[in-house]
Amino acid sequence: MKIKFINGPNLNMLGIREPDIYGKQTYADLVAFVRDVCTSNNVDCDVFQSNYEGDIVTEIQNCLGDFDAIVINPAAYTHTSVAILDALKAVALPTVEVHLSEVNEREEFRHFSYVSLYAQKVITGKGFEGYKEAVQYLCNENKF
Ligand code: DQA
Repeated sequence: MKIKFINGPNLNMLGIREPDIYGKQTYADLVAFVRDVCTSNNVDCDVFQSNYEGDIVTEIQNCLGDFDAIVINPAAYTHTSVAILDALKAVALPTVEVHLSEVNEREEFRHFSYVSLYAQKVITGKGFEGYKEAVQYLCNENKF
């Protein structure tokens, strides 16, 4: 199985941004964690991060024919982006939405997710472990 990991705006600032919410580990730590999890589960992966909505849409479109599944943390675009939802629907790959923080216990505007209208599973509030759970879910559910 080949999984594309897509991380949205400001996740490159992990370790610096609001450490009380997102922890002290850096984005490089997250990428290393994801790569380790994939290796342990016999999964090929590519990890992408962008602060630009259009680049995320293009990256999702480019998954078609090349990846078996998507794990996405759309960050702030979660709550605003119909374009990212439409891209996920267009490629129609198995998709897990991950959030490091417990979005449902934060500000009201974080409670709604466009991406959740398509994602097969949503994992919130588990930090890096959420990405591991996403990989395990995709391995179990999709029998690649
Ligand atoms: C986030 C939650 C979003 O509300 C926020 O805009 C982020 C990160 C998370 O991983 O907890 O940037 O997706």
